[in-house]
Amino acid sequence: MTAGATMPDETLSNLMHETRRFAPPADLVAAANVTAAAYDESAADQEAFWATQARRLDWDTDFTRVLDWDNPPFAKWFTGGRINAAYNCVDRHVAAGRGDQVALHFVGEPGDTRDVTYAQLQDEVSQAANALAALGVTTGDRVAIYLPMIPEAVIAMLACARLGAPHTVVFGGFSSDALASRITDCGAKVVITADGGYRRGAPSALKPAVDEARAKAADRDGHRVERVLVVRRTGQEVAWDDDVDVWWHGAVASASTEHQCEFFDAEHPLFVMYTSGTTGKPKGILHTTGGYLVGAAYTHHAVFDLKPETDVYWCTADIGWITGHSYITYGPLANGVTQVIYEGTPDSPHKGRWWEIIQQYGVTIFYTAPTAIRTFMKWGRDIPGEFDLSSLRLLGSVGEPINPEAYVWYRNVIGGDRTPVVDTWWQTETGMIMISPLPGVTHGKPGSAMKALPGVGAEVVDENGVPVPNGSGGYLVLTQPWPSMLRTLWGDDDRFVETYWSRFAEQGYYFAGDGAKKDEDGDIWVLGRVDDVMNVSGHRLSTTEIESALVSHPSVAEAAVVGAADETTGQAVCAFVILRESAATGGDVVTELRNHVAKEIGAIAKPRQIMIVPELPKTRSGKIMRRLLRDVAENRKVGDTTTLADSSIMDLISAGQATSTED
Ligand code: WTA
Repeated sequence: MTAGATMPDETLSNLMHETRRFAPPADLVAAANVTAAAYDESAADQEAFWATQARRLDWDTDFTRVLDWDNPPFAKWFTGGRINAAYNCVDRHVAAGRGDQVALHFVGEPGDTRDVTYAQLQDEVSQAANALAALGVTTGDRVAIYLPMIPEAVIAMLACARLGAPHTVVFGGFSSDALASRITDCGAKVVITADGGYRRGAPSALKPAVDEARAKAADRDGHRVERVLVVRRTGQEVAWDDDVDVWWHGAVASASTEHQCEFFDAEHPLFVMYTSGTTGKPKGILHTTGGYLVGAAYTHHAVFDLKPETDVYWCTADIGWITGHSYITYGPLANGVTQVIYEGTPDSPHKGRWWEIIQQYGVTIFYTAPTAIRTFMKWGRDIPGEFDLSSLRLLGSVGEPINPEAYVWYRNVIGGDRTPVVDTWWQTETGMIMISPLPGVTHGKPGSAMKALPGVGAEVVDENGVPVPNGSGGYLVLTQPWPSMLRTLWGDDDRFVETYWSRFAEQGYYFAGDGAKKDEDGDIWVLGRVDDVMNVSGHRLSTTEIESALVSHPSVAEAAVVGAADETTGQAVCAFVILRESAATGGDVVTELRNHVAKEIGAIAKPRQIMIVPELPKTRSGKIMRRLLRDVAENRKVGDTTTLADSSIMDLISAGQATSTED
């Protein structure tokens, strides 16, 4: 295990006591999309299994080979096949006579709503594709998307897919710095943004961050963004550069609704999604077209037991994260679903907003994150109790381990004790859900993601890559290639191999970076990261990334960041900072540093707590012992300090704890 990593033994033994089991409801079993036979089928011949799943999509040219694993870990899936992702998500449903079905029930935070049918979606995606083409976007060009959760976000992604122009969606909560580095890293030619979006009852600007990011990309990195396409959402004043900025409502609305789409090689890049790794530089996860779409569509069908004619599906993720890519845009639309998208926060204008939306649209399948569930638990069951949630038939969870109490509350209070809860484990890198119950097959256990889906190989292994016996913990690995696996890191094949495939190179396993446990039945309980990646409210943040943001402040000499357990957000960012001697010391420095991190990375990375310390605990080789800092951050007795170069340091740090600032 890497230094500072903990395999939480207490968690292990706590989970051992969880004995509640929930059988799938009989009606769901009777009509389930996927039965236990799928496990046998895929085990018998995994390539044949995935070839069958690939038939859910329309291929312009059929593939000739399912998997090319001749040069591992560089996979090619469905080689020879030609396909267009946007065509599969939109046009083919219209062609099948389902044009009048609602694709998106949009709910804006201020209360405005808009229904978009598949026929309308086809028109708008075609118009946006024509507008982008007119701005000079051609196959292979990268387009950055920085938008609120409005229909244009989905339309923009699909328009890029239609043109074969890989998109990189950047979460609207990221700062201009983070946006600039992503724009530069993937060499985005065009940025699609909005004047702003609505958050917590007020308009929140986006365009100024794009202007800043564009300037930074040019000045700092020498990368020029050619055009910026701007959706008008809030009507806020925006600075305007006539040579660069173009209004969406001008360029897109006036474009033709006819667009002949091209079909691309199955391995044509579909998108790059940046995520935090163990170093300061975010990784550009590359997903390609055919395999990704097969994986997203199959797992959405299987895990959510989706019935496209009758279900109303809602995933609360933002499209700035992988969940929004796979389970809002690509999987659900490839399956022709009707879904809700909501722009705002759960407490705006009141704390029952989500439940009100479920009641209003008759949502049947609901997919959210444990951090949200824990927040609702805190607010109390009376709030959801005021709404009719009886339309719900299936609940999903993603992003971090769901603790048994939150699982049971979710099932009980939101699901009226009728609905299965599917705890879905996956990553930006995997593109699709990998470990999850099947709702018509699996007896759910609160806190367990259960086992690998059909067509997926997962194992828990020890240091040497040997599977651990049932009842023990170890590292979570994926043992065989899968269609929606990342193909590489954008522009960095070496880092791709090193990060994911070197740890268990001998066995050829993909190392996920998570610790896990197999219980007595062999079911998997994911315990969280074993590396220097934190999971705050289901968002991945790297300790190093935040440390480098802190040390970029002139007052900071050195910084160490750890993720400390937090009741609501799973983990919270805690920073230990050594100030420069020249730094002005005063109560304000902490606030200033917190704001500095928000500016450098985004508000989600703001430390919950910053402690100003005289020294950091280091080993003789100079490695910071995060394990000890985590003890301090979590108010525990500090553990074994014998490997410290100077063991008196922890006394100094612990003594200073009382003066730490928190808000
Ligand atoms: C964590 C989000 C436990 C895990 C889709 C993983 C989970 C990281 C679960 C990926 C789950 C995600 N149970 N842990 N059901 N789902 N994780 O890339 O640590 O944003 O490695 O993808 O989230 O985060 P990412």
